[in-house]
Amino acid sequence: MAAESPGVKPPPDRLYGRIKGKKLRPRQEWLLAEFLPRVSWPQVPFGIAVRETWLEVGFGGGEHAYALAAANPDVGLIAAEVFENGICSLLSRLAPEGEEPQIPANLRLFTDDARPLLRSMADASLGKLFLMFPDPWPKARHAKRRFVHPELLAEVARVLKQGGEWRIASDDPTYQAWTDEVLAAQTLFTVTRATTRPDGWPPTRYEAKAIAAGRQPVYWSLLRR
Ligand SMILES: C[S@@+](CC[C@H](N)C(=O)[O-])C[C@H]1O[C@@H](n2cnc3c(N)ncnc32)[C@H](O)[C@@H]1O
Repeated sequence: MAAESPGVKPPPDRLYGRIKGKKLRPRQEWLLAEFLPRVSWPQVPFGIAVRETWLEVGFGGGEHAYALAAANPDVGLIAAEVFENGICSLLSRLAPEGEEPQIPANLRLFTDDARPLLRSMADASLGKLFLMFPDPWPKARHAKRRFVHPELLAEVARVLKQGGEWRIASDDPTYQAWTDEVLAAQTLFTVTRATTRPDGWPPTRYEAKAIAAGRQPVYWSLLRR
């Protein structure tokens, strides 16, 4: 069991992780200033009528979002990330230097806190939500910063349609115990738990690092009842 109770205060909409990392190169400055506005959600709507809308929270380098969007061309994926270097990684996948930039019809970037975005969404408007290796905040006093939280669970349940899926992965033992504890205390979702990545879940960069360092990821699939 987690050392701290899920009954901690609700999570504030404040970002604690890093937003800026290494100094940006001129190409990255260009991507943010000139290319990002062409793929930004909600300013640029999807280029097709999508079958469903999905949301990824904290896409990191963007490999998971890119793979999902490519494998599901009839779904609209909103990929949210706040860390500039991560945002540039996904942008440079879409606009490799020296090549014609591609604007996928079904992938848009949201470059701010995903929690207010989630709150702004209509009831039952999302088909899937992805939370791959969220920042673990392992100290008990930082538990309210974790995305998996009883209050946010209710919000995700509101926004997901019935039968919709919330995928969570974590390699951090404290976050794993915390997630198990939060999920055991709820009745909104039917939960499946695995220790090998389920079929159809694209890998992520963070996951590869965790496995290389000998950490065991856990993968939860939550189906909205
Ligand atoms: C540990 S990294 C994992 C990245 C990626 N999902 C992966 O597995 O490689 C967590 C990411 O979530 C982002 N993040 C944290 N809180 C966020 C929020 N409220 N909205 C959007 N992104 C967030 C961080 O900037 C960070 O890049």
